Amino acid sequence: MGVTAAVILAAGKGTRMKSDLVKVMHSLGGLPMIDYTVEAARDAGASRIVIVTGHQSDKVREYFSGRDEIAFVLQEEQLGTGHAVACASQALAGFCGRILILCGDVPLLKQQTLQEMLARHQKSGAVLTVLTAQMDNPYGYGRVVKREDGNILRIVEEKDASDAEREIREINSGIYCVESGFLFDAISRLTNDNAQGEYYLTDIVQMAVQAGNSCISCPVADPDEVMGVNDRVQLAAADAIIRKGVNEALMYAGATLIDPGNTYIDKGVKIGRDSIIHPNVHIKGLTEIGDNCTIEPSVVIKGCRIGNDVIIKAGSVLADAVLHDSISVGPMAHLRPGTVLMNHVKIGNFVETKEATIGEDSKASHLTYLGDATIGKGVNIGCGTITCNYDGVNKHRTVIEDDVFVGSDVQFIAPVTVGRNSLIAAGSTVTKDVPPDSLAIARTPQVNKEGWMKERAKGKGQKAKE
Ligand code: UD1
Ligand code: CA
Repeated sequence: MGVTAAVILAAGKGTRMKSDLVKVMHSLGGLPMIDYTVEAARDAGASRIVIVTGHQSDKVREYFSGRDEIAFVLQEEQLGTGHAVACASQALAGFCGRILILCGDVPLLKQQTLQEMLARHQKSGAVLTVLTAQMDNPYGYGRVVKREDGNILRIVEEKDASDAEREIREINSGIYCVESGFLFDAISRLTNDNAQGEYYLTDIVQMAVQAGNSCISCPVADPDEVMGVNDRVQLAAADAIIRKGVNEALMYAGATLIDPGNTYIDKGVKIGRDSIIHPNVHIKGLTEIGDNCTIEPSVVIKGCRIGNDVIIKAGSVLADAVLHDSISVGPMAHLRPGTVLMNHVKIGNFVETKEATIGEDSKASHLTYLGDATIGKGVNIGCGTITCNYDGVNKHRTVIEDDVFVGSDVQFIAPVTVGRNSLIAAGSTVTKDVPPDSLAIARTPQVNKEGWMKERAKGKGQKAKE
């Protein structure tokens, strides 16, 4: 089909967002809006992608850093869509083929639609194909004025349109497929003689027609696909459409979502067969969840890798943790970055972990903090255990080897190592390493003063009489 490049217009600030963040970096389904446009261009076969940036160009560049197929050009002043494409043409010097022009704020566009447009363009021999839509309320969009033969005569902006032209319901989506030779020439001849004093990209339609070339439309069936995101209401609407698609794809692949309308899963999350996701669960980033897992209500999971047969009970929060198979976590547990749980681990309520590896069959069932810790297999961590990892300046590790039994209410003053198969008596504050197979008791011996309460009561009576 010949080579295809894409130009993505993303220099505008997005004034109507009323935001300190440039519009195209606002999040949809957990990804910046512009990510969707770049993916659509790539999936449609664009081998080179040029993004025209302006406001906060550094943020856009940083997000795509390492993506060699993407080039960036800076449009310092936003003088119009035509000017933006002119900026991009420098980065495409020498390119010969078809150029897709896309907008960074039109995220719902499907790859199939772009492919259809490319095919139609190719077949027709037109120099320019415009993606159009029929809108019930076309207000604000450029209107597509057609000739009798159905080809496009020109595109007129709302502000420049006559009353009759404003009645037209076929709108310009702002998405085009253009032959590079024609585009580069036309773009260099644009003027800004119009109601907004801008260089309109849409003026290239008339130029094509005047030069005797044909310019065709490619209507999109679902106008939602070309919906522009200009304010937060449209952002929420687009977000809902993307999330619905993500949820449906997961359900078709075998996951149960009990209340999909109240389940918030980012694009890119993977969930295996027969896993059940309860309401008000948030699953973010590049999380992967295996088969047969249960995620109970109000759990937040970000950037985690979770194996099979895992249950995460209500109210737990997990970030950047790795969980192997057959694990139970929560309710109300907090697994922080660097947590690794091996098979058959149990983490109970009000347990917090960070930079902690917990070996097979080990348990920390209640009220515990395990930070900067390496815990072996078959270890029991008693209720109320704390690894005291921070001395106010540095962090230190606690190592607990296989088969250790830690009684309740134990503090480990790190750095400290407990050898395998030892027992730490409840209430101990462990400051020294414990050799294997030992009993460690580190608490003040108990003193019982018999009859002391009765003595005290007598004393009190005396005092009251005096
Ligand atoms: C444009 C079209 C209009 C179409 C509509 C579809 C023109 C003249 N009009 O209007 O026919 O119906 O899109 O949504 O093209 N941008 C830049 N640099 C600039 C100006 C804009 O990069 O100097 C970018 C914006 O960031 C945005 C896109 O181009 O991503 C569209 O610009 P916008 O100003 O929103 O154009 P519209 O007035 O909506
Ligand atoms: Ca717009």
